[in-house]
Amino acid sequence: MRHIFLAAFISVLFARPSCVQAGEPLDTEAWLRYGRLDAPTTKKYEQLPSASVLLRRSLVLENAQRELAGGVEKMLGRRLDSNDSINGPTIVLGTLSDLRSSAPSLRPPVALEGDGFWITSARIHNSQCLFIVGASDRGVLYGVFALLSKIARGESVDGIDEAQNPYAPIRWVNQWDNLDGRIERGYGGPSIFFSDGKVRSDLTRAGEYARLLASIGINGCTINNVNAAPGALEDSFIAQVKRIADVFRPWGVQLSMSVDLSSPKVIGGLDTFDPLDPRVAEWWRKKADEIYQQMPDFGGVVVKADSEGRSGPSAYGRTHAHAANVIARALKPHGGVVFYRAFVYNHHLDWRDLKNDRAKAAYENFHPLDGKFDDNTIVQIKNGPIDFQVREPVSPLFAGLRRTNEAIELQITQEYTGQQKHLCFLVPMWKEVLDFDMRVEGEPSRVKDLVSGRFFHRLIGGFAGVANVGLDANWLGSPLAMANLYGFGRLAWNPDLSSETVIDEWTGLTFGSDPLVVKTIAGLQLRSWHVYENYTGPLGAGTLTDITGNHYDPGPESSEENGWGQWHRADHQGIGMDRTVATGTGYIGQYPPEVQKLYEALAACPDELLLFFHHVPYTYVLHSGKTVIQHVYDSHREGAEQAQVFIGEWKSLEGHIDSARYRDILARFEFQAGEAVKWRDTICSWIYRLSGIPDQKGKARPQ
Ligand code: GCU
Repeated sequence: MRHIFLAAFISVLFARPSCVQAGEPLDTEAWLRYGRLDAPTTKKYEQLPSASVLLRRSLVLENAQRELAGGVEKMLGRRLDSNDSINGPTIVLGTLSDLRSSAPSLRPPVALEGDGFWITSARIHNSQCLFIVGASDRGVLYGVFALLSKIARGESVDGIDEAQNPYAPIRWVNQWDNLDGRIERGYGGPSIFFSDGKVRSDLTRAGEYARLLASIGINGCTINNVNAAPGALEDSFIAQVKRIADVFRPWGVQLSMSVDLSSPKVIGGLDTFDPLDPRVAEWWRKKADEIYQQMPDFGGVVVKADSEGRSGPSAYGRTHAHAANVIARALKPHGGVVFYRAFVYNHHLDWRDLKNDRAKAAYENFHPLDGKFDDNTIVQIKNGPIDFQVREPVSPLFAGLRRTNEAIELQITQEYTGQQKHLCFLVPMWKEVLDFDMRVEGEPSRVKDLVSGRFFHRLIGGFAGVANVGLDANWLGSPLAMANLYGFGRLAWNPDLSSETVIDEWTGLTFGSDPLVVKTIAGLQLRSWHVYENYTGPLGAGTLTDITGNHYDPGPESSEENGWGQWHRADHQGIGMDRTVATGTGYIGQYPPEVQKLYEALAACPDELLLFFHHVPYTYVLHSGKTVIQHVYDSHREGAEQAQVFIGEWKSLEGHIDSARYRDILARFEFQAGEAVKWRDTICSWIYRLSGIPDQKGKARPQ
């Protein structure tokens, strides 16, 4: 008990991390600060032309040219003139088809696709020019951002010849903003889009957000909560939403909205929302026409149905495919898509029945519907079968839909991973998920290739990230958490990038290229997920957070004896969910055979997911040689120690970064260290009480 009091005292002491003043300009610019480079670095870009030319004019291309000029001026301290024609060394901006007429001999080294781009240096009209060529206007903008990123990080661009294509066409973020301005699971202040039931009059931050998104290749943003208010589809509201689409458009970000399936009844005045009723189909068709009249580039809609109390097709005995298709058919003539979320489960499960298992729900609901969804629908699947826990296996549904488009849903906002008060860089976790090989039909079939549509030859597919930025100057409530938004975009563009590359890029762009700064911050970020996992939820048991409350504080008992199904089944003898085919819930049977083998046999199951798949005695010996119970004690102690070490490492940066960010982040690490002690003591006391087995090392033994 003493430890708990001590922890509580420390937590109060550091009550909440102090924040830098709202409006601090460096913060709102995040990784697009374009800080002035020092003289030797500036010299590297002497050869960069001092004029740019657009091969064609468009909203996005003109914006790309402005961004380029702004970045060059801020970083290199010189003007970039906008010329009408190539007259001496020039940066030439245009699409591949624009290029065909002006420089037909130039050919990219690889075929450009989607929003891909090519940056190359070539002589034309006797002048050495730099070409930024896109497969689309957006591609040109992305090429501009790629060039500016290289300059910001001091990378040479002499003789550059580089082409990049996106891994998948869908690279979207979802915001869970409510129309009253609050954000569900948002930790960075109120909505940048809405306040008091209306679209904000000042949409400056919405435009700045679109710029940040474009800089990492994100091409769509859903602006309202998946728990959608039907009123979002009222005509008067759509007329307001149009203003958000207007500020997104120059950045090539398509706006989309979450919709409530019961809208035809709730706001449309029909007596039904049955997806097979022709009046309902007509209502959606008319609604789509209205939306596209206001926003011709509207991206589509996100649907959460029959989940956590939302209305859904089950009300009329219809399927999710019926529900998705009725909207998809309305959007189809306009080129829109439907993201239909696979996060469908019964939250009133009988916890007494050991065969019940929430993890099975997505597969059970959607696998039988494979092939029944129209081609402009995408089933959006959370990375794991439960709900964004600190460690979960990948969802078996990724391998279970062969004739249906898929997108992976990742959570950037740290709902269960410290809510931006704790450092938890999620890219290493996402990499493990995306690189996981599902062995479909015994073939290499990594999750990234399933969701992008490459493996099953689907035309669309990709990535959706729940971002939840807010009006706080630093967007997510913590400057270091922005690495997750940056990392999501970079992986959606290219999931083959390593975590190290992503974090080095982000750190260089956000804090400058001082090697000590880059090494220290990158090191902290790269270790942070494991550290957080250590002092929260071990061995795949889940985060052990308070699931019926804030999803933040330790609350291991809150998972049990209720219908939510986030059970760890800890009792006096053992811990873990038996999900085996042989004796458990049978969940493992949803994976392809080779993956089943990996998880079904205790001896093969990796330690880090042991308690997700098996119920074992506390004395069970892990591959590491430790017993489960000793692992829990040790990992919590080590995690809390590491959180303390973070403070010292951060302190080594004093004087190397601006003092506002230095002090702000120091306070956050101090707060986190106190919280880690609280976690350690709560979990260790709880598991000791349950098991009666003391910590062999004596240190974490509760009183
Ligand atoms: C989690 C989260 C909810 C959210 C839901 C979803 O359960 O806590 O706030 O609505 O996920 O993804 O739909």
